[in-house]
Amino acid sequence: MSTDAFILSNARIFTPHDQGVPLRGAKSASVREYRELLVEEGRVAELSESGFKGRNIPRLDCGGALVTPGLVDPHTHAVYGGSRENELPLKLAGADYMEIHRAGGGIASTVRATRAANSESLLEKAKNDLKEMQRLGVTTVEIKSGYGLDFETEIKTLEIIRSLQESMDMNIVSTFMGAHSIPEEYKGNTAGYIEFQIKEIMPKIADMGLAEFCDVFCEEGVFSIEETREIFKAARKLGFKLKIHADEIVSLGGAELAAEMKLTSADHLMAVSDAGIQALSAPGAPVAVLLPGTSFYLRQNYAPARRMLDSGVAVALASDYNPGSCPSLNMQFILNLAYLYLRMRPEEILSAATLNAAYAVDRAKRVGSLDVGKDADFVIWNADNLEYPLYRFGQNLVKSVYRQGRKII
Ligand code: NIG
Ligand code: FE
Repeated sequence: MSTDAFILSNARIFTPHDQGVPLRGAKSASVREYRELLVEEGRVAELSESGFKGRNIPRLDCGGALVTPGLVDPHTHAVYGGSRENELPLKLAGADYMEIHRAGGGIASTVRATRAANSESLLEKAKNDLKEMQRLGVTTVEIKSGYGLDFETEIKTLEIIRSLQESMDMNIVSTFMGAHSIPEEYKGNTAGYIEFQIKEIMPKIADMGLAEFCDVFCEEGVFSIEETREIFKAARKLGFKLKIHADEIVSLGGAELAAEMKLTSADHLMAVSDAGIQALSAPGAPVAVLLPGTSFYLRQNYAPARRMLDSGVAVALASDYNPGSCPSLNMQFILNLAYLYLRMRPEEILSAATLNAAYAVDRAKRVGSLDVGKDADFVIWNADNLEYPLYRFGQNLVKSVYRQGRKII
């Protein structure tokens, strides 16, 4: 943390404001603009619309550039072995995601590669990816396990996430996702796999403090609503906060379950039902984390973001970075997709990729907006208005990135 105070000056600083709860529906469009920001001891100390007059504090002149809070990516699967470019010809020949999955490709092939990889190589690979995320403007990221699916490899993955937390200048949130798939050795015995997770893996992870959240892939042919509920009940008893991969391909009612069990977030929602949208629109309902990069890459429909926002749902955006359904970690591209295909408005996109994303990983007390007292995590853009980075695509528009008042990029 930097102790030296400075003023970020001559800037176009856009930030949502934290009101203690995620911004629901229309509220997420209420972003404000400031000209100057005072950073003290790594925190936001003061904001000014017209600029501070006559203060003898060093100034960092932004030359009229756009400044936003650091981006928050609240859903990634960034620790994995191997890659899956071999699936593209299958996909182009007409196989869909679940067909490849059922044929033992997809997640299972990444599980084989992750089990076979040593910790050093997995750590190195994840570190390089996280550095790239930083260069693209991300200061807070969530990472899930879920390519181990056995005791040893799930722990190995979560220990790698812990090493990343210790070695990277980034805010990293750790999630256990043993319920990402049913591993080959438990094929046809989902109940046995769930019992193994609940009795063997989860207590150990809780004991070691290796994960803050527990996530389940609730999907037809993976974990049913009832199985998901059982895992969540056990996880909650052990102290985990909860997230769900819900209604990604089939409308199973994951959103409704998320609302009923008061999870922190419900993610994907490409196939969410009207009742699911309604359940998520209630005050206190989970944040809906939308992942348009996955829709793009699976060449499927996009989540009904407009209907969600118009119904009062709290919407966040994430990359879903993983080797199968979204092999991109670029949050800037996610913002482009949100503009063009989710039809979100620029202010809604900003709130979704900062403050609401911070709520989706329970980090809003410290990050997600440039409110007084929060960490001075911000991005200075090669742009002078909020629309520009949403309009350009395929090119990194970040000029520099600050974390807790220190320049990291
Ligand atoms: O969020 N849906 C499940 N999990 C990932 C995909 C993982 C993979 O294909 O390796 C997702 O899309
Ligand atoms: Fe995912």
